[in-house]
Formats: sequence, C-alpha cells, structure tokens
Amino acid sequence: MIRTVNRRKFLETIGIGSAGLLLPDFAFSQTSASRVNELKIPELLNGSSRNGRLHYTLTAQTGVSNFLPGLSTPSIGINGRFLGPTLRFKNGDDVAMHVQNSLEEETTLHWHGLHVPAKADGGPALIIAKGGSWDPEFKIMQPAGTFWYHSHRLNNTGQQVYRGLAGLIIIDDDESSQLGLPSDYGVDDIPLIVQDRRFNTDGSFRYVGMGMDTMTGLFGDTILVNGTLSPVFVPTTSKVRFRLLNGSNARTYNFAFDDGRKFQLIGADGSLLQQAAELQSLELAPAERAEIVVDFSDGSPVNLVSLPMASNSEFAPQGMMRNMHPMNTEAFHILSLQSQSYLKTSEGLARNLASIRRMQESEASRSRQFTLSMPMGMGMGGGGRGRGMMGGEFLINGKAMDINIVNERISIGSTEIWEITNDSMMMHPFHIHHGQFQILDRDGKPPKPQEMGFKDTVKVGPGQTVRFIMKFEDFSDAETAYMYHCHILEHEDNGMMGQFVVV
Ligand code: C2O
Ligand code: CU
Ligand code: CU
Repeated sequence: MIRTVNRRKFLETIGIGSAGLLLPDFAFSQTSASRVNELKIPELLNGSSRNGRLHYTLTAQTGVSNFLPGLSTPSIGINGRFLGPTLRFKNGDDVAMHVQNSLEEETTLHWHGLHVPAKADGGPALIIAKGGSWDPEFKIMQPAGTFWYHSHRLNNTGQQVYRGLAGLIIIDDDESSQLGLPSDYGVDDIPLIVQDRRFNTDGSFRYVGMGMDTMTGLFGDTILVNGTLSPVFVPTTSKVRFRLLNGSNARTYNFAFDDGRKFQLIGADGSLLQQAAELQSLELAPAERAEIVVDFSDGSPVNLVSLPMASNSEFAPQGMMRNMHPMNTEAFHILSLQSQSYLKTSEGLARNLASIRRMQESEASRSRQFTLSMPMGMGMGGGGRGRGMMGGEFLINGKAMDINIVNERISIGSTEIWEITNDSMMMHPFHIHHGQFQILDRDGKPPKPQEMGFKDTVKVGPGQTVRFIMKFEDFSDAETAYMYHCHILEHEDNGMMGQFVVV
C-alpha cells in the first residue's frame, strides 16, 4: 500500500500560501502536525449468496481504536473497532441481514435512506438486546445512490454513533453501471465518512457535556475521515469519485478544495442527478451525502477543506445562536490529496446521468405541516425526554418524541406534500424514513441543482419553510412506525422526532 507521502510538499500545501482560495488559520490543531496517515478505506462486504438471497453478518462490538498518537480510544465498530464495512447492493437484490449485538447495551441498526418495510427499518422500537440478534430481510427497490447505516437507539443515538456505530451503503443499478463513472471501490471510488470528534486527555471520546452540547448539537475539534486522523489519499487515476457522507452528529461542512478547483457533483442522497452540476463548494448537513467527481490530471497536490459558512448563508444560525460555534466561521483541513506522478486516464463524464421524473404537485392527495421548534426554557431544565439541559425543548408540532404515540397515519399508495417550517434560530436537517422525496421549494424558490435528485434529508434554515413531495407506496404495517426527525443527533435524542405508520 502507499505509505510514502512527500512531507515537505504536504506541509507547503497545508501552509496555504497557495493560489486560489485564501484560507484563514486552520482551526484544528492536528492540521499543523507533521504526521499524516494514509486514509483508511472501510472494507467492502460482499454478501454470500444462498437461496437467491445475499446474506450479510454484521456484529456490533466494542473495541479500542488508536486515533491519536500514543493514545487509545474505547470505540464501537461493526465487524471491527470503529465504524463498519461498506455494504454494496444492486437494485433488485434480495438481502438477508444477521445483526449481532455484542455490545454491553441495547442498540438498533437503521438503514438510512433505504426503502424497506418498517419492521426491517431498524427504528428505535426494533431493539436488539445486548447479546441478542436481529434478522431483517428486504429487497433493494431503488436506484443507485449512497446511503448509510447507523444506530437508532431511542434517546441514545448520538452517543452510539459518536463512538462508531455507523457505516456506508452503496447501491448500483443497471443505468449507473453503464455511465463509465469511476466505480472501482478503494481505487477511484472512495468513501469519505467525515466526522468531528473531541477527546479527553487520556484519549477517550468526550461526548455531551452540559447545555451547549445539547442545544447546538455536539461539535468536535478534531476531524476523522473513515476514522483516520490527518488523512492523506493518493489518487492513481485522473478522475476520482468521492462519496461524501457527513456522518457527524451536528456539524455542517462547506466542502471545497483549497486551490479553488471546481468539481462535478453527480449525486446527492438517494440518487444520481440527471446531469452533473459544476460546483466550487458544497454544504452538507449531518446525514446528507454527495457523490463528487474530482479531476486530478494537473498532478498538483490539493486539500479537501471545509470553508467558513458564509454569514449570509441561508443556513447560518440567527440571533443569539449566531456566534455559538466559532469554528463554523473558520476553515479547516479535511483530507490531503497527493497524486501519483503517473495517473491512469479516466473516462469522460457522461452528459446524462440518472433519468429522474420530477413529481408534480398535482399528484399529491394531501399535505401535512410540521413545525420544528426549540423553545428555550428559562430555568435549569429538567433533563429527560424533550428537554435539553439548559431547559430548551426540541419539538415537532409542539410535541416531543413519544415512543407510545404514532403522530401520523398515511394511506398506502398515496403521494403527499410535507411542509417543514423551522421556527428556531438554527438550521435543522429534516430526515424521513421509508424512502426518498423530491424537494419542491424552499421559501417558494425551486431547489438548486444539487437538490434536484432524490433526497431523504433536507436542510431547513432558520425561519424557512421547505416543501417536499413523496410517495408512500409499499409496506402497509399498522404496528410498526417509521420515523421523521432532525438529524442533529442531540436534537433527535432530546425529542425532535415523530412517528408515522403507512397503512
Ligand atoms: Cu439516519 Cu432516522 O436516521
Ligand atoms: Cu433514516
Ligand atoms: Cu435540529
């Protein structure tokens, strides 16, 4: 494997005297460190085929990771020490999962973005007891895209995901494999699970402390990519496809390259786009995914960074929340890219990617309204469900998540418009289970090109109203609910979640 990194060159590029975007000081200490690590690539797990089904075994287990030099970090992994293997399916596959819980606590495992029966969805009611197992079966019934799986334990998702209970899912289909897109996993098709973490001096993760961590969601001061600190990747082809997953609990990234180079966005969340969109930067909220193709044929080293969120960004915090996380206003390093001197030439990008039929508003039989709010209590707050530690509450339509209440009943076969209004001072990434939607508009304005595909998570900025349209086609089940929630995990865990059944 490639271990040699030209360190001087790397430090020069990190020093950002470079042309292009001018970056202020990097906020994160490890970026000035001389130590770089080869980007870890999660193992690709191919199911074993038996009786027409692909069988997968996933074991959630505790482990000890070495993220920081000389220190060990107790962590959770699936079939490993931190995070889990990448699962790659094809549209039409029949999948049989065996999920073993070898943790010292209950968990659940949710397939984020997959259109599967509620019983197989891994929501908070589908508890896997400690030492127990769960065997959901489902068919892949959706187009190519990038998805993920993660713990969905009630009131406890944030801490389990933080410790590592997450992994990537790739779906291919006949159309996507004909496009000549980079698709050699680990070579020119590279997963990037981006997470911010913070550590105690003994190396252990430092999860939620008091007040602020819950209110804004937990922000870390150290970036891990696929569990790698200060990662470097060496492209060997002229074009590389990166599958970006914002696997952070709360932080939104504004991805860009430090030399200002443009990249092609080819997919977002649940599908490829109809046509690639050329971008210079891309904001991804927690749980959002993007597939980008980057050209390295100039041979120059470059860094993937996160730029400061523009203060006039429609997703920037408002009012008293504006300055709560200064690191949102600074640039920081994510991944260093050091091309090989000889690059294998990749195919050109196809003009048309996915064929997507835009759903029409007139197809919807009804609409539902959801208001996200986080009223700030004045006192010390009570803790517990629906209450943050500063007394703030995290509500949808005035209610906190109650596992015994089904909030919405949806008729199977119907198409609905959901209208999400954010009545708070910070952005919430709204996510729904059961499948994918199309964004109709945000404050009446049509979505940008990067939001024109199938989505399952959408940023709703302070004061904004986002409308999306979605079909609820399959899997009638009055007993088992699907979830909708904010994907800032500390908000979800403290009540900003609701349940629906499709019947
Ligand atoms: Cu990514 Cu309800 O989850
Ligand atoms: Cu989900
Ligand atoms: Cu939120």
